[in-house]
Order: sequence, then C-alpha cells, then structure tokens
Amino acid sequence: MKNMSNLIIMGPPGAGKGTQSERIVQELNIPHISTGDMFREQIKNGTELGKEVARYINQGQLVPDDVTIAIVKERLSRSDCSKGYLLDGFPRTLAQADALRKLTEEIHRPVQCALNISVDKDALIERISGRRVCPKCGNSYHVIFKKPRVENICDTCGSDLVQRKDDTPESLKVRLDAYENQTKPLIDFYKKEKILFEIDGLQNIDKVFEDILVILKGETK
Ligand code: AP5
Ligand code: MG
Repeated sequence: MKNMSNLIIMGPPGAGKGTQSERIVQELNIPHISTGDMFREQIKNGTELGKEVARYINQGQLVPDDVTIAIVKERLSRSDCSKGYLLDGFPRTLAQADALRKLTEEIHRPVQCALNISVDKDALIERISGRRVCPKCGNSYHVIFKKPRVENICDTCGSDLVQRKDDTPESLKVRLDAYENQTKPLIDFYKKEKILFEIDGLQNIDKVFEDILVILKGETK
C-alpha cells in the first residue's frame, strides 16, 4: 500500500470534488480543506474577509491569488495537517500551484497525488442546477442523484435546503470560463510532476469513490 495522504482533488465546478472529499477524509482521517467552503464560512459570519471575497464568489470569478494563498498557508500550518491533508478547489491557478509547492515543502508534506475528476459540460450543468445545500450545517444534496430523506429538508439538522448563490446560469458560465482559462492548465502541471491521476466522474457517486480508493491504496484494477 502506498499510503498517500497529501492530496489535492481537482475538476470543473460541479464535478463532485466536495462529495468525494467527504468520503476520502473519513477513510483516511485527514482534514478536508476546501477554499470554497472556507470563503463561504467567512461570508456567512460577515467577516471583513467575507465581505472582500463575496463579490468575486457570487459572480463566479476567482478570488485573487494573494488572498487565497494566505488562507491556505494559515490552514496548512495547523497541527491537524501533520498527518496529511486533502485540498479541494486549491490550487486553481499556476501561481497558486507554485505557492503550494513552497508551502508543502515548508511543512515537509509535498503533494503526492492530484486526483482529477472529469465530467462533461452537460452533466456539470445538471449537477449544479440540481444541487441543494443546507445553510446551517453545509450538507450538500442533489434533487435526483443524492436526495435528502424528506424533500428539501436537511437529513442532519432539519433546515430547509437552499441553492448556492453562485449556482445560477450566469455565475456558472463565468465559473466554467475561469476553469477553462485558469485552472485547466494545472492538469499538465501535475502530469509533468507525475502525480496526476484521472478519474471518470461521469459514473455514480459510489463507483467514483471506488476508483479513487484503488488509486489511494496503490492497487491496480
Ligand atoms: P468551490 O466551492 O470550490 O466551487 P467549484 O469549484 O465551482 O465546485 P463546486 O463546489 O460547485 O462543485 P464540486 O466539484 O465540489 O461538486 P459537488 O461535490 O458539490 O468554489 C466556489 C468559489 O470560491 C469559486 O468560484 C471562487 O470564486 C472561489 N474560490 C474557491 N477556491 C478558490 C481558489 N483556489 N482560488 C480562487 N478562488 C477560489 O457536486 C455537485 C452536485 O452534483 C451535488 O449536488 C452532488 O450531490 C452531485 N454529484 C456529485 N457527484 C455526483 C455523481 N458522481 N453523479 C451524480 N451527481 C453527483
Ligand atoms: Mg465543492
């Protein structure tokens, strides 16, 4: 077993990064570091940082690199990352990837595996438009593919589910463009580092997770 525990998960908006991350961190007992979730938490709490990033996020644009790198630097320096980490949605630009290389050298935990979930555009639109999230505990559902037990009610805390503010057709277009222009080049970046692992994200949630586990455990199919 390779025992990889310094991980990043990449893929376009709605590919299933958050859904798979929840399962991976449970399996490996490492922290799930989602820059999107961290920013949304700041917005919810009305902090200065939240106010600064809200306009970018709601429109679907990337938050500037310096702001994003700073929150990841702080998060990676915490003690729970001493056993590994799963970065979800970071890096998203080449400048962030360069910064991450330095940050992970500093904590002696270089990235060992970049999981890249591929999903075509029609499926992304279907996944994003059907996503519902709990405003209280952050749980994520889908009206067809991951239904809550009671329609539109969070299984965990009973709150009414809502749509994410950036899950509108207008924001999604901007997010997909940002992905194509700024994030997609990272596939080559990690290919060159020989740590890129491709995942067919068009399969169902359980099957995608099965394929990820095969990679993380170093087994061959
Ligand atoms: P972020 O929160 O990272 O959003 P994203 O990348 O657009 O991705 P999503 O969270 O929308 O999708 P996901 O891949 O996690 O899919 P999920 O599992 O939910 O970032 C938001 C914003 O923050 C950015 O636009 C930017 O403004 C800012 N930001 C964040 N990081 C940044 C950075 N590094 N630099 C600069 N700015 C940054 O699944 C989607 C839906 O599909 C769910 O309903 C789920 O149930 C369903 N689903 C999942 N898997 C499957 C499956 N296999 N089959 C069927 N349905 C599925
Ligand atoms: Mg996500």
